[in-house]
Amino acid sequence: MKNFENRWFVITGASEGIGKALAEGAAQKGAHILLISRSQEKLNTAAIDVKAKTIRTDQKILTTACDVTKFDTIKSVLEDFVRENGTPDYLINNAGFAQPGYIQDLTIDDYRRMMDLNYFGCVHTTKTLVPHFIKAKKGHILNVSSMAGFLGLFGYSGYCASKFAVIGFSESLKRELKPYNISVSVLCPPNTKTPGLDKENATKPKEVLMTEEKAKTVSASVVAKAALDGLTKKKFMIVPTFDGELAYRLNRYVPAVIEQFVKRPE
Ligand SMILES: NC(=O)c1ccc[n+]([C@@H]2O[C@H](COP(=O)([O-])OP(=O)(O)OC[C@H]3O[C@@H](n4cnc5c(N)ncnc54)[C@H](OP(=O)(O)O)[C@@H]3O)[C@@H](O)[C@H]2O)c1
Repeated sequence: MKNFENRWFVITGASEGIGKALAEGAAQKGAHILLISRSQEKLNTAAIDVKAKTIRTDQKILTTACDVTKFDTIKSVLEDFVRENGTPDYLINNAGFAQPGYIQDLTIDDYRRMMDLNYFGCVHTTKTLVPHFIKAKKGHILNVSSMAGFLGLFGYSGYCASKFAVIGFSESLKRELKPYNISVSVLCPPNTKTPGLDKENATKPKEVLMTEEKAKTVSASVVAKAALDGLTKKKFMIVPTFDGELAYRLNRYVPAVIEQFVKRPE
């Protein structure tokens, strides 16, 4: 299925992990892509892999090194992009990180850094591109949250708050932007094998690791496939796995059932 043929994607955090898998998946379906992350070196390597997945020689795979937490910088990158390539069809706000830890061990700066990247990173790009989407009367924004964006997990108070914020931001914008033919989706992956998860695992409290033993870790390509299918179907809430979808529904409709799986061991 080549349903992203000639569509432009802007993907943040695209040099590795889920962002790169999303870029590879979109490339396989004929899209043009702007990959954004901070390190140009990592972007160069990723662009080679993404280019290798393209199905036509005229697909454009561009890279720009930029920190999405800096509003003026990302705004200027995106305005330049629109001037040169037109309004993109898809904006994927994927750049993010998790710093697990108990509140007595995390610093205020840890809380702020997660909010800055996971939440304000989405706000900065969206705020810049929405006027262009409105003018073009089209656009689809995918914000990457997490299962920790709908489940308040112990050991994740900073991360959960930032990812709950992403869902609230997305749900509000979904309603606000619908009259302009702009769609909004939110992706809630489970634990996914990425460089980010490796870093996160190194600092997880032992009780968190014990609780997570029962949960499956999936590959970034599984998450990307679910996300791209969800975009095609214009789904709002995209929870990639059966277990994840079940957890989402149980938490929403019978929260007492989910409690036994997420409580902190005594
Ligand atoms: N992996 C999981 O288990 C999991 C589960 C649920 C949700 N998620 C969410 O999925 C998203 C991707 O996670 P991941 O595990 O794939 O992450 P990852 O492997 O750590 O990759 C993160 C990407 O974001 C870029 N990045 C980091 N800070 C940035 C900044 N300030 N500005 C621009 N780019 C930045 C990184 O490149 P540079 O270092 O070059 O900037 C990299 O390309 C995140 O939002 C994460 O919270 C992940």
